[in-house]
Amino acid sequence: MKAIILSGGKGTRLRPLTYTGAKQLVPVANKPILWYGIESIVAAGITEIGIIISPETGGEVQSKTGNGDRFGAQITYIKQEQPLGLAHAVKVAQPFLGDSPFVMYLGDNLVQSELDLFLDKFKSQHLDALTLLCEVENPSAFGVAKVDSDGNVLELIEKPKNPPSNLALVGVYLFSPEIHHAIANIQPSARGELEITDAIQYLIDKQKSVASFQLSGWWLDTGKKDDLLAANQIILDTCLELTIEGAIDEPSKISGRVHIGKGSQIINSMIRGPVTIGDNCQITNCFIGPYSSIADNTTLIDIDLEHSVILQGATLEGINDRIVDSLVGERAHLKAAPQRPKALRFMVGDDSTIELT
Ligand code: TTP
Repeated sequence: MKAIILSGGKGTRLRPLTYTGAKQLVPVANKPILWYGIESIVAAGITEIGIIISPETGGEVQSKTGNGDRFGAQITYIKQEQPLGLAHAVKVAQPFLGDSPFVMYLGDNLVQSELDLFLDKFKSQHLDALTLLCEVENPSAFGVAKVDSDGNVLELIEKPKNPPSNLALVGVYLFSPEIHHAIANIQPSARGELEITDAIQYLIDKQKSVASFQLSGWWLDTGKKDDLLAANQIILDTCLELTIEGAIDEPSKISGRVHIGKGSQIINSMIRGPVTIGDNCQITNCFIGPYSSIADNTTLIDIDLEHSVILQGATLEGINDRIVDSLVGERAHLKAAPQRPKALRFMVGDDSTIELT
């Protein structure tokens, strides 16, 4: 069994952050989203992993993630010259996959579930495709599956106007090598992409065995800011432990589950967890409220912040109104002049400077 993780694509929904970086490297609780997928695949005993990368962001994905040693895996990077669809990515990965069955994992998805159960069903039922499904409130925004009472997939419909169910396709799939034949026989969709849903539909139409597995835990597609903040909240809620490696001065107060990384200094500040603060950060005269993730090398002075993600190297100073539900890019600089509006909500790209006057 092998795995591929799709980490190319355009990332239009997380612009402006994705003009300068890969969306799969945007951190959730200070760890790149992509790494959660790698860890989950390795936990299921699969160590041969191919990562699909784009020419624009592939170098960054590769240099940050490495050859797989840190995960106990062997990672092969596979360049997809253009984002021509999920099935196109599988086509590009075919030399790596050979005739092995494989997991396909979308690099911007976070799934709370062990892949083992999913793998057991795929193997024991000798399936050609197994899709992971999750109940959603707005199925029209997703690929949706129509299934029979045994969980066999009858039909897949991309963003249906009249959804046949509320079961959305989660970004994790299992395939036998039959999928390569299906992909070779489909045409690009109206948006010009080779769709994985069309390839699976081809298998269904050829009476191949296509089943589904309904996810009971949560699933997040982190492609948009609010999804990313929701993912950050869930991961901080479920995975964070109290670990203080940095220095906290006498007047500062820390409560709840808080991680403070090496070389970070907390001066005259209140941190109320769950909060994670990376290495070498300066937090001075601040209130940092629940569900905040602050990456390495950031400086926060006179800041009141909660439920926000601050990427590395950002500087925020002198903003006395509370910053909430915000995502601030790498090396961005926010500072305020004395006259300020009452509420501030930010989505700030990498390298930007915002001055409130
Ligand atoms: P999507 O979120 O469907 O597409 P996208 O990355 O182009 O994003 P947006 O809608 O914001 O423009 O992609 C799901 C995952 O698959 C994501 O990690 C990117 C990756 N991907 C590829 O690797 N190759 C592709 O051709 C496409 C379309 C996506």
